[in-house]
Amino acid sequence: MKTLISFSTKTGNTRRLAQEIFNSIRGEKVLNEIEDIQEFNGFDLIYIGFPIHNFEPSKDAKDFIGKLEENQKVVLFATHAMQTDSPMNNKQIENCKKIAGHLNFLGIYTCRGELSESAAGKMIKSDNPQMQFFGKMRKQTIGHPN
Ligand SMILES: Cc1cc2nc3c(=O)[nH]c(=O)nc-3n(C[C@H](O)[C@H](O)[C@H](O)COP(=O)(O)O)c2cc1C
Repeated sequence: MKTLISFSTKTGNTRRLAQEIFNSIRGEKVLNEIEDIQEFNGFDLIYIGFPIHNFEPSKDAKDFIGKLEENQKVVLFATHAMQTDSPMNNKQIENCKKIAGHLNFLGIYTCRGELSESAAGKMIKSDNPQMQFFGKMRKQTIGHPN
């Protein structure tokens, strides 16, 4: 069983999950940041991790998902600022699943990730109400993923 654990990250939260997954699975395995991946054919299973940006996978993760072959077995994992059990979070998780709709999708794991101080600062100053909303969530995200 040959497994690729791929991830994208801006501030390190998703890398932490990727590292934990890498440490806990058996067999032949490769851990790689999406931007550094040269070869993704020939893996029995690919884990794809990303931060959720604007209610869907970060752009590089979305592009990577789009390149995979239809029968590729995948597991998604993501970090996000939104409260895990909120209807809006369920909606953004559904968006992520849809983007992987052409693949052999085995499952998804998501959890909160700390919104960095600089990202939250920029969001609060933006004139986009949605971004301001996320920016104000920083306090509740501190210490995640835990
Ligand atoms: C530009 C931007 C957009 C974001 N959009 C969302 C979003 O739509 N939903 C959400 O729950 N969190 C959103 N977040 C929060 C990130 O998903 C969260 O902080 C994540 O853990 C960051 O992961 P990373 O450290 O691996 O980059 C956004 C963050 C940024 C910087």
